Amino acid sequence: MSKPLISAHSIVRFFDSLKVLNGSEFNLTEGEFVAITGKSGVGKSTLLGVLGTLDSSFSGELFINGVNTAEASSSQLAELRREFMGFIFQDFHLLPNLSALDNVLLPAVFCGTDTGSIRDDARAILSRLDLRNDNTPTRFLSRGERQRVASARALVNNPRVLMADEPTASLDEESEANLFDLLDSLRKEKGFAMIAVLHSKKILSRADRILELKEGVLYEKHA
Ligand SMILES: Nc1ncnc2c1ncn2[C@@H]1O[C@H](COP(=O)(O)OP(=O)(O)OP(=O)(O)O)[C@@H](O)[C@H]1O
Ligand SMILES: [Mg+2]
Repeated sequence: MSKPLISAHSIVRFFDSLKVLNGSEFNLTEGEFVAITGKSGVGKSTLLGVLGTLDSSFSGELFINGVNTAEASSSQLAELRREFMGFIFQDFHLLPNLSALDNVLLPAVFCGTDTGSIRDDARAILSRLDLRNDNTPTRFLSRGERQRVASARALVNNPRVLMADEPTASLDEESEANLFDLLDSLRKEKGFAMIAVLHSKKILSRADRILELKEGVLYEKHA
């Protein structure tokens, strides 16, 4: 069996006295699409923050690509995130005054990656996501377009794991299906695994596994 990309055991996360994660177990293997669902406020974004090493205030064990995150320095974790993960945040986190292209190039700028070839990659991924007006500041773009810029930015470094937090919230059904069609074909081509927080039954049914977060614990759910 292939080594898990992410392996989390007994994850507990409190916010003051509020216990949001209460012994969650999670594994992700190469190329898998795992959907996470659950009621609002149950802790889905919190869980993604922990799995993505953006939040270290938890107890339990987290291995990323075989690395025990408790033993990694913050710069090792930052490197792991840059090279291994792509994030689509619940509210996108785009810089409104920068163009689509510059937003997509940001992670590469932070990584110090060769900006010549990455610029071509960024243009290619934006056009795959059907975004042609890549010089427009993102504040002028529609929500669906901003969503695709955020997806392109998450994918430009060729991550092994894409983490998406309700990426299609407030998009119409057709735009949502279009985005997942694109993500599916990119996933087949590039082989990345995906963890997505989702609600739509139609999209959930595309996942290899559906996990429901309830009272701080993840349960396997059947579509
Ligand atoms: N930084 C924080 N400080 C205090 N409480 C927090 C913090 N972040 C999250 N919480 C609380 O933790 C709980 C889980 O929040 P989280 O955002 O993970 O839920 P969610 O399942 O993603 O919800 P939604 O579906 O609405 O996005 C909520 O009660 C929230 O108020
Ligand atoms: Mg959330």
